[in-house]
Amino acid sequence: MPTATTREIVDAARRAGAGVGAFNVITLEHAEAIVAAAERAGRPVILQLSQNAVRFHHGRVHPVAAAMERVAAASAVPVSLHLDHVDDEDLLHQAADAGFSSVMFDASTRPYDDNLRATRAAAEWAHRHGLWAEAELGEVGGKDGAHAPGVRTDPGEAAAYVAATGVDGLAVAVGSSHAMISRTAVLDLQLVTALSRAVTVPLVLHGSSGVPDDQLRGAVRHGMVKVNIGTALNVAFTGAVREILAPPGHPTDPRKYLRAARDAMADTAAHLIEVLATTREAR
Ligand code: G3H
Ligand code: ZN
Repeated sequence: MPTATTREIVDAARRAGAGVGAFNVITLEHAEAIVAAAERAGRPVILQLSQNAVRFHHGRVHPVAAAMERVAAASAVPVSLHLDHVDDEDLLHQAADAGFSSVMFDASTRPYDDNLRATRAAAEWAHRHGLWAEAELGEVGGKDGAHAPGVRTDPGEAAAYVAATGVDGLAVAVGSSHAMISRTAVLDLQLVTALSRAVTVPLVLHGSSGVPDDQLRGAVRHGMVKVNIGTALNVAFTGAVREILAPPGHPTDPRKYLRAARDAMADTAAHLIEVLATTREAR
């Protein structure tokens, strides 16, 4: 069993006025690297698996979730398991049995009323099964979306949405964008403050790989709690593999390049975990 639930980890971070990293797992090496980084930093961490990653694993959530669970169980620091960006209700309904203590139901691309109805049903299901439920309002889109002035979450609408859906955590659009490989996003920190005052639940930042360190610290100081990071690990993974496989006579044993990839991901994750450990008091 994982050593903690997402609710425990997020609540503890919020009480401390700190952020907590939620890192996307694709391979076993991702999970090992993230936990090694958290142990190095001496901080809790959330291992998250996206619906897209489940599809990569032939649509089977249990084998990869079991691997994550065993890595978490062997950790020296608190680690929880989160199922991320789910819009498939069949997958949602496997979350508890697969060992996740939280799930993000993503209806963010749907019209508001539809989003609200589907998310309320997902949150009710999650609560009946003891899970922490996250949802998103104001789509955190692709690269173009990051700089589109309209892609922002409205604080009043966010408050009403949280009250109407009963979710435990809210992903908001404040200037970040998924899958950025350059760290050039500029966050609207005043909006983060307004949202954190408007809603009763912890805020979640998605697309955090494109957010520079000082902006990540700023986001935490303005009230962001759960910070989702995926692409940064893949940049580290792929860069390390490329370096080893580029020269002629490169190794064929995958352990040679997967070890380097795992080490590179651990260094990236450890750095980001330290950045997110900043607290509101330090403002
Ligand atoms: O939910 C996952 C995150 O939003 C990851 O985004 O890959 O851009 O860091 P990222
Ligand atoms: Zn996301």
